[in-house]
Amino acid sequence: MKTHMRKQALRSPEQINELLQKDRQYVWHPFTQMKDYEDRNHVLIDRAEGIFLYDADGRQYYDTVSSWWCNVHGHGHPKIKEAIMQQLHAFDHIMFSGLTHAPGIELAERLVNLTPEGLQKVFYSDNGSTAVEVALKMSFQYWQQVGKPEKNKFVYLDGSYHGDTLGAVSVGGVEQYHALFKPLLFHGYRMPAPDLRQAKGRSPADELIVAELALAPLRELLANEADHIAGIIVEPMLMGAGGMIMTPACYLQELRKLCTAHRVHLIADEVATGFGRTGKLFACEHADVSPDIMCLSKALTAGIMPLATTLCTNEIYDAFYDDYATQKTFFHGHSFTGNPVACAVALASLDIFQEEAVLDRMQSTIHALAEALHSCGLAELPYAANIRQLGLVAAFDLYQDAKNRIAFSADRRIGAAIYEEGFEEGLILRPLGDTIYYWLPHCTTPEDVKDIVNRTLRVLRRILG
Ligand SMILES: Cc1ncc(COP(=O)(O)O)c(C=O)c1O
Repeated sequence: MKTHMRKQALRSPEQINELLQKDRQYVWHPFTQMKDYEDRNHVLIDRAEGIFLYDADGRQYYDTVSSWWCNVHGHGHPKIKEAIMQQLHAFDHIMFSGLTHAPGIELAERLVNLTPEGLQKVFYSDNGSTAVEVALKMSFQYWQQVGKPEKNKFVYLDGSYHGDTLGAVSVGGVEQYHALFKPLLFHGYRMPAPDLRQAKGRSPADELIVAELALAPLRELLANEADHIAGIIVEPMLMGAGGMIMTPACYLQELRKLCTAHRVHLIADEVATGFGRTGKLFACEHADVSPDIMCLSKALTAGIMPLATTLCTNEIYDAFYDDYATQKTFFHGHSFTGNPVACAVALASLDIFQEEAVLDRMQSTIHALAEALHSCGLAELPYAANIRQLGLVAAFDLYQDAKNRIAFSADRRIGAAIYEEGFEEGLILRPLGDTIYYWLPHCTTPEDVKDIVNRTLRVLRRILG
């Protein structure tokens, strides 16, 4: 059954074929086995508006993954378009070393005021991985410059994902993406993650048990090795690429205490969770925790332009602030650092958050998502388990036998089949292995949510019965 809504196609079938042929001939897509596309096409998107993408045939798809976890106010928001045009009329990209500009300055001020207390300085880069590289180098260099050069290792969690550059991969805990590159990576300490799927229920006591399981080895590590540890990097509350693993607030609170007690930097990677996705502006707010360093990207520009920031405390900044001859400068920067158009878009996005009371408005969508997941019959399906939600993110895992948690054999590629069938239902679903998830834009309405969940159920039934 095709349930596509259509808009008029922008291209003829011949034009579409020619483009897709060239796509195969010239383009290497990310995270993609290109052989899969030998006899099957990529979907060619020609237009986007609000929560919808439209392919070249005019078929409509819900962007349920917010265009790789980035989009916030929907595609084509008029205020964002206007901000881009206004900035382009004034000036486009300029160097951000030795020069500065109002959008970069104003955005830094607003971010310092919006982020958890204590984060006072903003270092720009241009994507999530670089924000993480900056955080790691900043922390490492800090300890060199305060007379503790032996504090030079990082702690990270099983299942963590912080990007694809080599520093970020060194603190990554997803075997599929990271294991191959081990010979190129720096050594760190990998610790268990407090995966809430292991909790018996959702009471504070259940959450504490899960947190404590993960904290026990960490406490031991810190007791023995804190003199060699620069920082601990975590994705607060929600570990995305590792499988939409949700973690308890009490873990983050205890982590903060341990970092303070052992003089270790707490690095919060909010590249994915920042700007409202979890129901609060920053995921750290669920635990009322302030990190020493915070990485932001993706939704920073409402998901429209590449931009990232690494924020840090004055204490860290001050360790770099000295006469040039002392060689304490942070020698790091990217060509597109602080791109003014991207900064102008980020400012416009923050204005929209205020003017449209986005965080308040989306609470009804979050509620509708909980309600739809509860009432749609998903929990009764013999192959679905671990239904979970935090804010606009929800996930569940597919099993051959959900009750006994017996996985599908990998060669069945269930997630991939669901991805393909999703297109037939007008959904961009992009499962992580056999984990199906939504990462909804903030503009999603309660009605959209119901429709998306119903369509997903139809996809599941067609693939799995
Ligand atoms: C938590 C987290 N950190 C870092 C990154 C890397 O961001 P980018 O893909 O922009 O390099 C991602 C990307 O998904 C992420 O989820």
